Amino acid sequence: MKITALVSLVAAVLITTQASPLRVPPRHGHPLPLAPRSNAVAEAVDQPSPVLKNPPRHGHAVPLERNPNYRPNIKAHIAKMNSRYGNGKLHARSTGRVPVVNVEHDLEYYGNVSVGSPAQVFKLNFDTGSADIWFPSSTCKSTGCKKHTRFNSAQSSTFKKDGRSWKIKYGDESNASGILGSDIVNVGGISVRQTVGLATYESEQFGSSPEDGLFGLGFNTIESVSGVETFLDNAIAASALTQPVVSVFLPSFRRNGGEGGEYLFGAIDSSKYTGELTYIDVSKRGYWQIPMDDITFNGQSIGQASEGIVDTGTTLVIIGTAAAEAVHNNIPGAVFRPETINESAYWTVPCTLKTSTDNVGFTLGGKTFDVPLADVAYEALNDGSKDCYSGIQGGQDNLWILGDVFIKNNYCVFDQGAAPRIGIAPLKY
Ligand SMILES: *[C@@H]1O[C@H](CO)[C@@H](O)[C@H](O)[C@H]1NC(C)=O
Ligand SMILES: *[C@@H]1O[C@H](CO)[C@@H](O)[C@H](O)[C@H]1NC(C)=O
Ligand SMILES: *[C@@H]1O[C@H](CO)[C@@H](O)[C@H](O)[C@H]1NC(C)=O
Repeated sequence: MKITALVSLVAAVLITTQASPLRVPPRHGHPLPLAPRSNAVAEAVDQPSPVLKNPPRHGHAVPLERNPNYRPNIKAHIAKMNSRYGNGKLHARSTGRVPVVNVEHDLEYYGNVSVGSPAQVFKLNFDTGSADIWFPSSTCKSTGCKKHTRFNSAQSSTFKKDGRSWKIKYGDESNASGILGSDIVNVGGISVRQTVGLATYESEQFGSSPEDGLFGLGFNTIESVSGVETFLDNAIAASALTQPVVSVFLPSFRRNGGEGGEYLFGAIDSSKYTGELTYIDVSKRGYWQIPMDDITFNGQSIGQASEGIVDTGTTLVIIGTAAAEAVHNNIPGAVFRPETINESAYWTVPCTLKTSTDNVGFTLGGKTFDVPLADVAYEALNDGSKDCYSGIQGGQDNLWILGDVFIKNNYCVFDQGAAPRIGIAPLKY
């Protein structure tokens, strides 16, 4: 059931935004149509305000206090300043770390985001392949909303009405709609006033989704409602971030049990990768789109190239039909399963690849970044099946999608500075 929901979600985002890259991976026992999906999540964790610690208190000579009643109370002072200028305005540049939960062996990742005052906490899928932030409204009565945390705007002192309506539709016809509103959104301690979509309707596909909604990290040109600025836009404009970046570590279940994943807002954690980051300029703002110069098999070029996107909200790597065939021609036992009335075409590979040391590589900005065949054997078709869904699928003949199968092997820095770019380096586990 999650499969369906996921597929829907994935599909949703991209379709809405025109391209229709496939986002969802085949799941579980049944053959899944590879629909695009758009769920990536990260959790926003409440953090103490990043400001002043207690006054220093060394043991030695203390200056005489001229006013014995004076008790500096830094926290109260800051709270007062914040309420005076409005939350989210008075910022020191800072960083925010959002731990993520790895759902079902790398299917997707979500984290906490706090909204409103006092905070209402949502599990959102951080998604570089879409730009809207949305979650259910307390007025949503549809099946799709029932199991999820719903936002009650009446209980937030900082909520502001917007009045515009909002809707989003995904590739499998799943869809959500509602109204826009604005409130303080806090991600790992970074908080800004943010326009969000409050769903008053969600189609039932969302009912089984483990997260409450989505947190888009794409550019504002792919917002469902034009003119809405993204969280990154607002955080950068408010000088809330030390650097205008989001750095992503999505851990692999195979490599470390899937633990320790995070979205790091405003900084780069160099302990997470080996060597130097290679930066690739974004070729078009919308998705995080870059030129993909080649694919390799154990270091040998297979002569395939395209524009593509790096998309945390898609589980697999999805490339062109011919490119997928060229990749699988190097893998003994790979089988193409043509489209049927009930499912899209897909590739399978032998599950024994889980112990392989061979690699498929993606050449970006002059460097080649590996995806081990051990991850290309994504998941068995059925319990006990000797065939696994391939982590690299075809059918995406325009924009290729480097989804989580790529990202769980390579640290990715989404840099929304004046000239946006993506920094990539192999993960250190
Ligand atoms: C999310 O927040 C809830 C409390 O609201 C907490 O129990 C949970 O551990 C948090 N999860 C993560 C991944 O931070
Ligand atoms: C939304 O999804 C429901 C359920 O799949 C479907 O019946 C309805 O037509 C969809 N609405 C739109 C606007 O696509
Ligand atoms: C396709 O799905 C329908 C509805 O679930 C089912 O009745 C039919 O047998 C399926 N056809 C094939 C070829 O699997």
